Parts: sequence; C-alpha cells; structure tokens
Amino acid sequence: MEQLTTQRAAFLDVITERRSVRHYDPSVKISRDEIKEMLKEATLAPSSSNLQPWRFLVIDDQELKEKLLPIAFNQQQVVQASAIIAVLGDYEGYKAAETIYTKAVSAGFMNEEVKSSLIQNINSRYSNRAREIIKEIALVDGGLVAMQFMLVAKARGYDTVPMGGYNTDKFMEAFDITDRYVPIMLIALGKAAQPGHPTVRLDVDDIAFWNEMPSSVSEK
Ligand SMILES: Cc1cc2nc3c(=O)[nH]c(=O)nc-3n(C[C@H](O)[C@H](O)[C@H](O)COP(=O)(O)O)c2cc1C
Repeated sequence: MEQLTTQRAAFLDVITERRSVRHYDPSVKISRDEIKEMLKEATLAPSSSNLQPWRFLVIDDQELKEKLLPIAFNQQQVVQASAIIAVLGDYEGYKAAETIYTKAVSAGFMNEEVKSSLIQNINSRYSNRAREIIKEIALVDGGLVAMQFMLVAKARGYDTVPMGGYNTDKFMEAFDITDRYVPIMLIALGKAAQPGHPTVRLDVDDIAFWNEMPSSVSEK
C-alpha cells in the first residue's frame, strides 16, 4: 500500500471528514476575523478569467438568522449555526477586471501591456453578454468557491452544510439584494453538535468514461 505523504493524508482527512452537518452548537461563535480569513482562503479557488464574480453576504446576526429561518423552510441549522454565508454571483463582476489585473501588475505577475489587452478582451466579451451566460459562469465559479470554503472550514475544525433549500425570491427581498446578484447557495457554518450522517457515492466505474461517452440508450 502506498505510503501517504503527510500532506496527502491531511488533505484526505479533510475531504473524508467533511459531511453536511445539520445540528450546530449555538453557543459557538466564529469571529468575523476568522470568517474573513476563511473567505480569503476560499477565494484562492479558480474562476473564469480570474474574474472572481462571487460575493458573500455573511449573516451572523441572530435576528436576521431568525428572519431567514422560514425562508429556508425552517431548516434549524439556519438559526443554530454561527453564521450563514450566502454565496452570490455578481452580474457586473467583470467590471472588477481593472482592479484584479492592476493588482496582478503590482505583484509583478504581468506587465501593463498584457493587462490592457486582457481587460479589453474581457470588456468586449462581457459588456454585451446575455445575463443568462453571465449567470452560468457565476454559478460555476460560485460552486467552486463554495466547495473550497467548506473544505477550509473543515480544516479549521468547523462544519458546514450547503443549502439550496430556500426561497430565492423571498431571500432576495428580505435581505434587500438587488437583481445585480444571483443567489448561488447558502452555507451554514458552525461547530457540530451532532455529526453529519454518512453518505455514499456512485462507483467511479459508473460515472467515469474513457475517451467516449456511453450511448444514451440505457444498457442497464
Ligand atoms: C447545491 C446543494 C444544495 C443543498 N441543499 C441542502 C439543503 O437545503 N438542506 C440540507 O440539509 N442539505 C442540503 N444539501 C446537502 C446535501 O444533501 C449533501 O451534500 C448530500 O446529501 C451529501 O452529503 P454530504 O455533504 O454529507 O457528503 C445540499 C447540497 C448541495 C450541493
């Protein structure tokens, strides 16, 4: 059996021990500073053209969590967790290209010429792009950052559950979120009071194919 390197073993621990946790210790409060650090680590995730169109609304006020409770179909983790992170996609995220690529120049990762041509290219691609396409990109990027956030939290000894079970229209209205943003998912973050239940995965042989996909006619 292959000897696991310490790094790989630690990473495996994080990914195998992460479970969706639905019961949290309400007495555990994670500081805003630590949540900010977690978000900083999560946003090392990749994104299309590095545009990072994700935005986060962190709900750590108990009254606001109570307000969210019925909108999230009374899922108790909403009020028990230390914070709820709403992952949003910004339809105007591409407008941050100037800031992003200026930072890259300052860091010495590219020169002004490359920056200008990248920004020009992004502006011409995005400024007339259909909202639906921008949304699709934001959903993919948002899924990546959300996953990374959950692993970052687990590595720090916290737990999470991603949540799509909420009324997005009511959520947008209740939290005054304009249609500049698309809600991607909510993530409850806290310390488990009860472990998440174990779950199973499909066999890799049933979901991975080599060089060609099986015919759409089911053979099973
Ligand atoms: C997009 C998405 C939405 C989800 N919505 C909910 C939800 O609203 N409530 C909930 O309890 N779990 C929700 N889950 C958690 C899944 O049920 C869970 O990830 C799955 O059963 C696998 O379990 P595991 O996360 O413990 O590995 C959601 C997961 C994803 C990825």
